[in-house]
Amino acid sequence: MTDHIGVTQADGVLTLVMNRPDKKNALTDAMYGALADAIIAADTDATVRVLVIRGAGDMFTAGNDIAAFAAARPGEGLRNVGRFLHALAQLEKPLVAAVQGRAVGVGMTMLLHCDHVILADDAVLSTPFVNLGLVPEAASSLLLPARIGHQRAFSMLALGDAIDARDALAWGLANSIVPVAELMGAVEAVAKRIAGQPLGAIRATKRLMRDSAAVMAQMDVEFTAFLERLQSPEAKEAFAAFAERRAPDFTQFG
Ligand code: COA
Repeated sequence: MTDHIGVTQADGVLTLVMNRPDKKNALTDAMYGALADAIIAADTDATVRVLVIRGAGDMFTAGNDIAAFAAARPGEGLRNVGRFLHALAQLEKPLVAAVQGRAVGVGMTMLLHCDHVILADDAVLSTPFVNLGLVPEAASSLLLPARIGHQRAFSMLALGDAIDARDALAWGLANSIVPVAELMGAVEAVAKRIAGQPLGAIRATKRLMRDSAAVMAQMDVEFTAFLERLQSPEAKEAFAAFAERRAPDFTQFG
């Protein structure tokens, strides 16, 4: 259990809130666990017709908790992140994201699994895995190049380049951009519309639109590489640099 994930339901809409604003909603193992539990339960709960995910405070999420990365031991770790990612890949009910401010790392890659994404005009998306000595996750190494093209994906995945809401919309990563103050109203409206659609047909359509097994297979291959990279000297230098609020020095590694 964690207080850092809020789960509320009204009128067939289940809303998940990443609620750790003092740490920019950075995700811990317990938070992934709570998200996974809620998503898995919602998919078979007849009272839920659509899910919404959002962040509390001024940003969506700063991604995985870097202190948790630094503490991960060889051969173990990150138990719930895999459950969360598989739950996203298998979810048959529609998932809507409301994104204000930064969406970093898994905050960005989870959007590739959402069916409708609304960005606030201050949204900034980034995937600085390589900057941390890591590799992409959430099947983003497959889904992001497919969505935005190899070269743009490389600049995001390998260089950690951030994109603003306008580029994200132009590149097909979102449905619309609204002023920050209008974000929740816009998401409520679209969630209500989706909730009114025939759910059986929506589920069947999602099954037709994606190859869930291929997505999970890619997640698993990435995860193996990710766990190896977590123990690398490059990653350890990146985590130490974040904790010490300094720039990392990767030139010491061949
Ligand atoms: N993991 C753990 N703690 C994090 C975090 C993360 N991913 N992101 C932010 N925090 C913490 C900071 O350490 C800080 O904690 P403190 O107040 O105890 O010192 C607090 O959240 C506020 O963060 P801060 O960096 O001061 O906010 P900011 O608005 O200046 O910058 C970000 C926001 C998101 C740009 C910046 O925090 C950042 O780059 N975070 C790391 C993002 C990242 O690399 N995630 C992993 C991707 S794989």
